[in-house]
Amino acid sequence: MEVPMDVVDGRTQVTNGDLYSTKPGTLAGRYLRRFWQPLGRSQDVHVGRAYSRKIMSELVTVYRGENGRVHVVQSHCPHRATLLSTGWVEGDTLRCHYHGWKYDETGQCVEQPGEDAGFAAKICLRTYPAQDYLGLVFAYLGEGEAPPIRRFPDFEQPGVVEVPALIEFWPCNLFNRIDNAGDPGHIAYTHKESLRRSTGFKLAPPNCSVEETAYGTRAFEQLPDGTTIYPSHFHMPNINQVGARAQFKTASGEMKFVTGERLFFRVPVDDEHSVSYTVEHFPLETEDASAYLATRSERQDQRVAELRAHSEAILRNESTVEEADPTFTTQQMFWIEDYVVQVGQLPISDDREEHLGRTDAGIILIRKLWRRELQALADGRPLQNWTAPAGLNALGLTGGTR
Ligand code: FES
Ligand SMILES: [Fe+2]
Repeated sequence: MEVPMDVVDGRTQVTNGDLYSTKPGTLAGRYLRRFWQPLGRSQDVHVGRAYSRKIMSELVTVYRGENGRVHVVQSHCPHRATLLSTGWVEGDTLRCHYHGWKYDETGQCVEQPGEDAGFAAKICLRTYPAQDYLGLVFAYLGEGEAPPIRRFPDFEQPGVVEVPALIEFWPCNLFNRIDNAGDPGHIAYTHKESLRRSTGFKLAPPNCSVEETAYGTRAFEQLPDGTTIYPSHFHMPNINQVGARAQFKTASGEMKFVTGERLFFRVPVDDEHSVSYTVEHFPLETEDASAYLATRSERQDQRVAELRAHSEAILRNESTVEEADPTFTTQQMFWIEDYVVQVGQLPISDDREEHLGRTDAGIILIRKLWRRELQALADGRPLQNWTAPAGLNALGLTGGTR
């Protein structure tokens, strides 16, 4: 009998091809569902409104009750399968727009106009644990009891936490996004134009190494004076962390720079689309925090439609990165530059021909950790419990002696 290539000793042998699909029931889909995942910005899920959201090829309904609590339930009504997101939020309950069946916060059907008493008790929505954290709505869509949500202690320190509107909803596979976290080598080339505009410098490709940590991986570089810097961290399975810098005008009119940190949550919408939400933390308090927050509306106007249009024009060879509107900010230029290279990639699969080298060590390590975890899941062994330690931002910003 012919044994399939991916089965060794009767067991599934995980390959890179298994990383590509996060549809329900797939290994990568089951794995990613073991972690709380963001479904959108908290500020975009208004009190008393319901929304459809697609995540890992699955549609769900997200609504916020009139008391402010967020809920995630199945996408379609059990009666005649219309979208529940078109319904009405009443208190903490959701009423279907079609025939008015009403579901309480546990998903239980509690009202069915015109139906016999007793029928409602037999109908219940599938519900998922949900909560707001760091400005995002998170849900647990996985098997078994939900673990506690992963906390990021540094982002809970006093300061300003924001989720900018520069959301990256891109037509590419999750792994085109995740690989980028372990890829410091792309910065000098992919981001050449934004670096030229912002600093006037050409950047030499970095000389980074990478190592596994209790939370995933980190890149590090030894400086000539013996110190080690850690320019980026990767939290398994899909969160990237880097330092951030912002400028703001104080109440007295003086310009100030502040350094902070950014988390990027990369989430599959389906196997051909992904979204990335950014959470920023800047250690600003009192007047400085107020001065920074006063310019919040400017930061929320991110011209995403223009960025997308320009990026798509580049992919159609109708324009170039260098021809992008000179008023785009560095972050907006990064959006375009990363879009063209990552959306321009083929999705990762065992068939995609690649030739990875020394500078791809971060990518190789992240894929290795994913394959290792998927293998454990396939074999029924326990999964690694990744935790984010406090003080990670300090390592990322100032370095430390190893
Ligand atoms: S389809 Fe929802 S109440 Fe009929
Ligand atoms: Fe990039």
